[in-house]
Amino acid sequence: MSLWKKHQKIEKNVTLLFILSLLVVSIGGLVEIVPLFYIDNTIEKVEGVRPYSPLELKGRDIYIREGCYVCHSQMIRPMRDEVERYGHYSLAAESMYDHPFQWGSKRTGPDLARVGGRYSDQWHVDHLTDPQSVVPGSIMPKYGFLKRTKLEPGDIKAEMKVLRTLGVPYTDEMIQKAEEDLVNQADPDADAEDIQSRYPKAVVRNFDGQPELTEMDALIAYLQMLGTLVDFSTFQPVVSR
Ligand code: HEC
Repeated sequence: MSLWKKHQKIEKNVTLLFILSLLVVSIGGLVEIVPLFYIDNTIEKVEGVRPYSPLELKGRDIYIREGCYVCHSQMIRPMRDEVERYGHYSLAAESMYDHPFQWGSKRTGPDLARVGGRYSDQWHVDHLTDPQSVVPGSIMPKYGFLKRTKLEPGDIKAEMKVLRTLGVPYTDEMIQKAEEDLVNQADPDADAEDIQSRYPKAVVRNFDGQPELTEMDALIAYLQMLGTLVDFSTFQPVVSR
């Protein structure tokens, strides 16, 4: 019997076809999945990447609550037009502490993965309050109410503890000082070095220019750190062996 004829047998017997298909798919699946159990980490470690400070974390929560991700991505693809516009392509490590990640799927507005440091705090306050006042023709909604909404530390400690269970390396000290750090990061008179000892490169200043701690402070603290943690003048991608 030729091979072709033998195969006809399988094609004409649904049960046999099903069993053999299942077998083939299982082998394929095992080949793909099993090696993942034997590598320690699927994300290469990159110097500079750290967990969010409490104020940045609050800002990130506001970013998610307000649906900024609906119009903005945070994932620069390694294609020339994107790299020239937004900067170095995004590294997996840069979103390793994001739960959930904010890669996004739509760009009504520009990618924000490296917006940190691109504009002044005042620009962000003006832009979020009334986008058209700084970018004529902008279709971005207004978020001026954030300036009038007091920032509540709420359950920041619990939130950090939950993130720790997901693998974000918050220490006991970080959690214990969370509420303090949250307030101090927006206080230009606070001990910046103390905050930076826990959160290197954290920007410590009054972000919205008002004496009260508001949601605007938190959101701008978050925006200003985006993409600033890794030093790309020294970064060397690991070439796979
Ligand atoms: C309906 C879609 C939409 C939503 C929702 C939205 N934006 Fe935008 N955003 C835009 C558009 C369009 C632009 C480009 C025009 C401009 O700069 O205003 C933009 C620009 C920006 C810029 C300037 C980026 C750059 O590189 O010039 C920042 C920062 C920004 N948005 C932040 C936010 C934040 C934070 C939120 C949530 C509070 C948000 N956006 C929600 C549409 C949106």
